[in-house]
Amino acid sequence: MWRESTVLWFLLTLATFTKVVLCSVSYDRTSIIINGQRRILISGSIHYPRSTPEMWPDLIQKAKEGGLDVIQTYVFWNGHEPSPGKYYFEGRYDLVRFIKVVQQAGLYVHLRIGPYICAEWNFGGFPVWLKYVPGISFRTDNEPFKVAMKGFTQKIVEMMKAEKLFQTQGGPIILSQIENEYGPEEWEIGAPGKAYTAWAADMAVSLGTGVPWIMCKQDDAPDPIINTCNGYYCDYFTPNKPYKPKMWTENWTGWFTEFGGAVPYRPAEDIAFSVARFIQKGGSFVNYYMYHGGTNFGRTAGGPFITTSYDYDAPLDEYGLIRQPKWGHLKDLHKAIKLCEPALVSGDPTVDSLGNYQEAHVFTSKTGACAAFLANYDTKATATVSFRNMHYNLPPWSISILPDCTNVVFNTAMVGVQASNMQMVPLSNEGLAWESYNEEIASYNDDPFTVVGLLEQLNVTRDVSDYLWYMTDVNIDSSEKFLDGGAWPVLTVMSAGHALHAFVNGKLAGSMYGSLEDPKLTLTESLNLWAGSNRIALLSIAVGLPNVGKQFETWNAGVLGPVELSGLNEGRRDLTWQKWSYKVGLKGEALSLHTVSGSASVEWTQGSTVAQGEPLTWYKATFDAPSGTEPLALDMASMGKGQIWINGESIGRYWPAYTAKGNCGGCDYPGTFDENKCRSNCGEPSQRWYHVPRSWLNPTGNLLVIFEEWGGNPSGITLVKRKLASACADISEWHPTLKNWQIKKYGKPEEPQKAKVHLACSEGQKITSIKFASFGTPQGVCGSFKQGACHSPHSYDIFQKRCVGQEWCSVVISQDVFRGDPCPGVMKRVAVEAVCS
Ligand code: GAL
Repeated sequence: MWRESTVLWFLLTLATFTKVVLCSVSYDRTSIIINGQRRILISGSIHYPRSTPEMWPDLIQKAKEGGLDVIQTYVFWNGHEPSPGKYYFEGRYDLVRFIKVVQQAGLYVHLRIGPYICAEWNFGGFPVWLKYVPGISFRTDNEPFKVAMKGFTQKIVEMMKAEKLFQTQGGPIILSQIENEYGPEEWEIGAPGKAYTAWAADMAVSLGTGVPWIMCKQDDAPDPIINTCNGYYCDYFTPNKPYKPKMWTENWTGWFTEFGGAVPYRPAEDIAFSVARFIQKGGSFVNYYMYHGGTNFGRTAGGPFITTSYDYDAPLDEYGLIRQPKWGHLKDLHKAIKLCEPALVSGDPTVDSLGNYQEAHVFTSKTGACAAFLANYDTKATATVSFRNMHYNLPPWSISILPDCTNVVFNTAMVGVQASNMQMVPLSNEGLAWESYNEEIASYNDDPFTVVGLLEQLNVTRDVSDYLWYMTDVNIDSSEKFLDGGAWPVLTVMSAGHALHAFVNGKLAGSMYGSLEDPKLTLTESLNLWAGSNRIALLSIAVGLPNVGKQFETWNAGVLGPVELSGLNEGRRDLTWQKWSYKVGLKGEALSLHTVSGSASVEWTQGSTVAQGEPLTWYKATFDAPSGTEPLALDMASMGKGQIWINGESIGRYWPAYTAKGNCGGCDYPGTFDENKCRSNCGEPSQRWYHVPRSWLNPTGNLLVIFEEWGGNPSGITLVKRKLASACADISEWHPTLKNWQIKKYGKPEEPQKAKVHLACSEGQKITSIKFASFGTPQGVCGSFKQGACHSPHSYDIFQKRCVGQEWCSVVISQDVFRGDPCPGVMKRVAVEAVCS
């Protein structure tokens, strides 16, 4: 009996002890320490409201396969608390479900509560009602703001605790974040900023999550909060205390797109280089912002002028498909880094110069592990370096990783995975029988309210709609000279933004819009006025509220004036201070025309009289869900500007008529990257395709509703499937392979493993032909490869035989396979393009 209870006591103590040891997160100068283990952690941002819950498991699985340990997300306050004290955690905002999906996949979570999040999200994540709390001033030492911020932060922390989601409770959350990039803001504000930082830190820590908090871009983050780095490169960064780990919360994998802007992209080679450079300098946590960018559904895009697509050139594209070669190249990088983990967490590296622009960073552990990173910072030339009596070739702007200090398993500039060419395949749009309904120009019958002077837009709409009507009357005396054939008077409207349509006597007189860089606009139009009373109706449109900038909550939108009419007998007439009437939103919005029931409440025009090219027009059509599982989108190229709904769900704002300004020259990976370096789509719509989540569709009879502001041609709207068109590879015969290292480690044959070409189509597709293949010295890039001076005559045969008819294939790059050496003594490559259908 005595012995039994002692054993029981012993077991219980052990269990308690083990629990403590098993569920802890702490840190030291080297890394985050989870359950007593120092870890090199690879993380990726996936924002739950930017995809659908149905997409989450697949996204997380692909993130896991891509070698991630952690999923990082912001928490979206304005999505969760649409009005004070009324919370929403359903659908795309089901935060707990999202975290549990990550947990089920065996990954960790980094929860960036903010609650200011920036993120190109409407109002930076703040609910608009917050602006109207009496006495409030955002993100500073202001009592009403602090009360609200604490309230929401506490609400989220308690929710996580109740669901046992913190690591200390056995859950997946290993880290949290308070505020977001407050350092630069604090710098501008001074003393109240500093006081706010101290308060925010204190408040967060007092919530007792049991896991560390971080503050990004906040050099003075108070202990025990870890300050972290955001940027395209963070190797230069040092945390503010020697006992904090070097962490990178945002490695931007591309950049966001704005309406009117070109589409930014970032080469995989440069991202891999930035990560290897960070790790070789002692970094232990890297997060890709974004790993999946997704879509700004509804009116969630910030800005103003941020596009509905938040693709970000991320490793998983907007639709959740793997973006190659980016996804695969980073996956290979992560494997290489993980092979180095035992040496990396064992202390500081030694750094040796290997040349003017070359360095070796070597990590060794007491137990004998050794890992080396050989870097070439030269942006132009390949370097041959000597390291521990061996020679290594390092392409420009690249780092080779040697997990045993001898064998290269990965070089950041040598991409071993395929590049995938995606295409948007149109489905028949014959089934779309469009009907139209004219939105009415607001009138005094609509029960507007009237005041003297011009009002700021957000103060009136509180963002329940993008639209606000400003109406006034102008009396024209019959003695006006222009009525006898003189020049028409000119209306000038100054607006704080973001877009404007001016209607005079029921006709569109002109439209104007701003840009992200300058949301303000001035509309100047000659007006065909008549003698007597003329009605001016200005439709002012917000295109997403600002998400960043000093006190962005105070920035104005809408027609603030002056509004003037010139060219009258009296010269100029100021309309700014006369009576203006206001109407929030559209009639169609009030009628909920985007819903099945609302759309049935009005009579639509059908057949040949359907409106075409007319402003302020609602369109509707029904369609059946296309077969298959490929992601779907709407091609809106034939339309101007407006919003789209399917079965009542908002797809978001569309604006293909806003084409991308600027110059999109070619872009090479070497050299310091910034968001202006690599851009596409110049002269084309900034966004042409709009993601339609499959889970929003019924098998038949889906209601598609569009509100067009400018005038477009709905018969050009097409539903498309996103598919892989072809897979390309371009690989050197000396491409480093992970296998070399494994063979050496496990004592298998010393014969080095040959590089291999892998080609794969998407599920359900097959390789149907080989568009190009060359073993030799091929040139060009995927889609436009050309034979070089050296070319094996068997190149096509081999790929045709091994690949055509298959879902995937692989071919070893060797003379044996290609039946002889087409040019002895020359370093050869294989370039191939396989068509998938
Ligand atoms: C960062 C910010 C993110 C996001 C990013 C740009 O500075 O922390 O929330 O806005 O810029 O995509």
